[in-house]
This record gives sequence, structure tokens and C-alpha cells, in this order.
Amino acid sequence: MVAVPGVKNCYNIFMAEFKFPDKFFWGAAMSAYQHEGGIFNCDWFLWEIDKKLEAAGEACRHYEMFEDDFDLAKNLNLNAIRISLEWSRFYPKDGFFSGEAPDHYGAVVKAMRARNLEPFITLHHFTNPIWFAERGGWADHKNIDYFVEYVRTAAQALKNDVKYWLIFNEPMVFLFNAFVAGRWPPGKKSLSAAYRAMENMLKAYCLCYEEIKSVYKGSETIPLVSFAQHLRGFEPCSLHNKIEATIASWRDHKFNGAVIETLAKKGYLDFLGINYYTKEYVTARGLFGRECLKRHHKERKNFLGWNVAPDSFYEILMRFKDYKIPLIVTENGTAEKDNALYEEYMLAHLRAMAKAIKAGVDLRGYFWWSLLDNFEWADGFSPHFGLYEVNYHTFERKPRPYSATYGKIAEDNAIEL
Ligand code: FCB
Repeated sequence: MVAVPGVKNCYNIFMAEFKFPDKFFWGAAMSAYQHEGGIFNCDWFLWEIDKKLEAAGEACRHYEMFEDDFDLAKNLNLNAIRISLEWSRFYPKDGFFSGEAPDHYGAVVKAMRARNLEPFITLHHFTNPIWFAERGGWADHKNIDYFVEYVRTAAQALKNDVKYWLIFNEPMVFLFNAFVAGRWPPGKKSLSAAYRAMENMLKAYCLCYEEIKSVYKGSETIPLVSFAQHLRGFEPCSLHNKIEATIASWRDHKFNGAVIETLAKKGYLDFLGINYYTKEYVTARGLFGRECLKRHHKERKNFLGWNVAPDSFYEILMRFKDYKIPLIVTENGTAEKDNALYEEYMLAHLRAMAKAIKAGVDLRGYFWWSLLDNFEWADGFSPHFGLYEVNYHTFERKPRPYSATYGKIAEDNAIEL
């Protein structure tokens, strides 16, 4: 709707407007391997060669262009950016530390601060150094200390500019793809390896949580530490099928709930990072059920075939209403063919958030995935998630039409309902 100059508030009489809480974070998310380019010492690099996948290569050249990219975020009135650090830039070879990484990321977070963009820093976003993978990776508990050492080094280097830390991105997605489905490196299909890796990541999380806190001792900033959990709706494929319903709720517990509950009970979550994209319909096939990929459900599917389900986003947020832990949506977004559909998706999900906040959910921020089109893991460069489109030949960035809508919402800290 177009506001008439001079009578700005007049349409509020006809159309309700929702104000988000003060100091709400409006951001966009990125990750090192998907955006930076030039990462050759991590397991994904070898995996692409081995499986003959499209390679991340130069990705968006964000490593060189980060200042320009933060200007683009500023042009949309954003006040926060989420990036990840690439572990293999800190420790490219076994036992070898590179000072270039802390210098580079130090400059990156300073560039954010200079633009009043609050840095949200992820320490592990799916990639591992090759030497770590060769030592058995996450499946071997002897390797936990390597990760803790890297986290300590990163926290020491960035502590003057960073308050928000996310130790892992979507550990359950990582474990499933890497150790159960065999789709990501190390390409295992072993439940026992998956279980061991999960235990090790949980241990690593707790140690890193303590480590970050101790790095900040005596400093004025109190770091807030969490992880980004991929939460998806699970529903039985047929409404009245009891077996499907049981499997859906089992999946919901294992995939969505269990890790959060464990860490919340231990007091190791200062806030909770939520990545939400879709809802999955569950059928009773196989040992743990399967996702129904047919097109007989009411939801529209996006470019990747994901169900667009803002109602389930609302329900997920509502689950944490009485949790006493603030929530931050660390990722939400879509890949589409048609430009108009991005805006439709975004508005529906922001309205779901508004409804949840009204109902009492303590939600403090929102990050769209992603600022730029990027490398989408096994799907390569064909899905486009960016507020800005990237030309992969010239590396020019061009705003997609819906980015202006996001910019206006961020500026007003409000949305029309
Ligand atoms: C999430 C990942 C992110 C990106 C989006 C589309 O699961 O965290 O890296 O691939 O999906």
C-alpha cells in the first residue's frame, strides 16, 4: 500500500500496523564457504571434486568485497549481519596457525561496527579443515580439543567487537547429511557414527560456551552464546493416520527439540538461534518415516520444492513462549523463480512473527537468508536466496525488488498486518 505524504498515519485507521520491539535486530545472514570464495583447505572443497559437484570456487568474492556488501546491508537499513568464520583459514594445515585469519575477520567485524551493524558470528557452518576430517572429524572424541582451540583463538581475536556468538549452525542438519544420508562430507551412512559425532559436538558446544565466557572475563562486554537450530514443522501426511502422527512427533523431538532441551537444562543457551524455512509432511515408510514429496498438500512449494508454511513458523515460535530464553531468527528465506514470490514469503513469515510476539514470545531479531545469492551446498549456484542478485561473471550485485520492502520494514521497525 502507498502512503500519502503528509498524512502518514492516516492509513493506520484502516490498516493495522505492528511495531516490533525496540532495538529489534533486522539483519541478513551469510556463511564463509557460501559467500567468501577462495577456500581450499576444508572438506567441502575436496567433496566437490570427489563427487563432481558444482564448486563454490570464488562464490560471491565476499572475502574481498565485504565492505561493499556491508554498505549494501546499510542501504536496506539493516542493523545486524550474521557471518561465519572459516576454521580452515585459522588452521589451514595440521598444527599450523595462520595469523591472516584473525586479521581479516578483525577487519570484517570492524567494518560492521563502523556501519552500526551488530555482528553475529557463527563459528562452525558445516565446513571442517581437511586435516581435521583426516583425523576422523567429529566422530572421534579426541578431536574436540582442536575445535575448542580454534574457538578460543577466534574469541580472543574478536572479543572487542563481538557480543553475539553462535557456536554451531544447524548441528542436526549437518549430522544428518554428513553421517546418516551420506550427502555431505564425510559421506557416512552410519547411525553409530552419527550418534558419536552428536555427542562430541554437544561436548564441544559446552566447552566452547565456557571458553568464550572465560575469554571475556574482565571485559565490559558480556558475550551471549548460542547456536542456530534448524527447526521445521513435522506433520503426518494424512491427518488421521496414527502411525504417521507418531513418527512425525518422534522426528520433531529428535530433530527439533532434543538438543535445545539438553542445552537449556544445562543453562548453556543465552538466547536461541532459530533457522526456519519449511514444514515437512511425514509418511510411514522406512525405519524413521520419510518426507512426502508429492504435491497433494495445500502449501505452495518454492524453487527447491520446500513447502511454504508460515503457519508452522508461528507454531514453532509459540513453543518457546514460556522458555525464558530470548529468541532470534538467525535464518529465514526462500529461493524462487518469480520475484513476486520472495515478498509474499517474507511478509507472511514476518506477520507470523508479529502474531507470536503479540502472543507473548520474546523475539529479538530476524535475519533473512541471505544478503546475496550464494553457493547452496550440493545444489550449487542455481537456487537464489539473495536480497541482492549476484552476477557470477562480473560479481556485480543488483537489488531484487523485494529488498526495498525489507528495507522499509527495517526502517519503520513495523509491518502492516
Ligand atoms: C540452511 C543453511 C544455510 C543455507 C540455507 C538455505 O539450512 O544454514 O547455509 O544453505 O539453509
